[in-house]
Amino acid sequence: MTKINLKGEKATLLPTLYGRALDSQSPDSILHDTMAYEAVQQLEFDFSLVGLRRGDDTSIALRAQHLDDWVREFLAAHPESVVLHLGCGLDTRAFRIDPGPSVQWFDVDYPEVIDLRRQLFPDRQGCEAIGSSVTDPMWLAEIKGDLPVLVVAEGLFMYLKEDEGKELVRRILDHFPSGQLVFDGLSRRGVQLQKLNKAVQAAKAKVYWGFDSCAELEAIDSRLRCVASMSAFELHNDKLPTSFRLTAKVSKVFTGMKNLAVFYRMEF
Ligand SMILES: C[S@@+](CC[C@H](N)C(=O)[O-])C[C@H]1O[C@@H](n2cnc3c(N)ncnc32)[C@H](O)[C@@H]1O
Repeated sequence: MTKINLKGEKATLLPTLYGRALDSQSPDSILHDTMAYEAVQQLEFDFSLVGLRRGDDTSIALRAQHLDDWVREFLAAHPESVVLHLGCGLDTRAFRIDPGPSVQWFDVDYPEVIDLRRQLFPDRQGCEAIGSSVTDPMWLAEIKGDLPVLVVAEGLFMYLKEDEGKELVRRILDHFPSGQLVFDGLSRRGVQLQKLNKAVQAAKAKVYWGFDSCAELEAIDSRLRCVASMSAFELHNDKLPTSFRLTAKVSKVFTGMKNLAVFYRMEF
């Protein structure tokens, strides 16, 4: 068994890992992430403390699947490319996606989290794990910037300060010739309502950076264009409990609610 003592934003990787693990054990699993289940079995930790509500496993799996689909689409169009999986936590995305041999995949998270990944998951050819804050410029400087890049950041940007997040985006744009960024984000209201976010509260984490529109993200740098944005409430599945489906219906009427959590696909 592996002991863990993650704190703050690092501990927020636990609810999402647990959600994917639970989903993998369901007869109609969405993500089939059995590696997540095996990782949970190896961790000495009481996962009942991570703040998941009924149905959260399904919505976590749906969100991961949505970003996986965008990653697959990019890799199909750019078989020779670089993937930066930022704030990767204990997500086995590279194993789920199984990128081709000409893809250079980098999983980036804090050193403590990367140490844990190394204990739990096997090495994979073409994949490298980098233990660093994503906001430190050093790690990116070590990666060759001659290929198109796909940045995938699930559940990360809200934990960065706004100026740090914007600097990171600009640094990536300066480093690569072209690419896409796929990520989820909270609205400013979503950040204000963080006390209601059970997983964030359970981890004793804090969210900072919220954004409300594609236009706001495009204003970070004139090279950025928004290709798609979609409310997390638009992800549907029959497995979602009635309470989730009702919230999704209500959110259609109230834009502020619909935009609390949004997926973005940007290109440059
Ligand atoms: C909500 S978890 C998401 C983890 C993973 N993407 C998933 O979906 O399971 C947030 C992750 O972002 C990481 N993170 C937050 N701020 C970071 C930073 N400045 N540098 C590197 N990683 C960071 C945390 O350590 C954590 O693993």
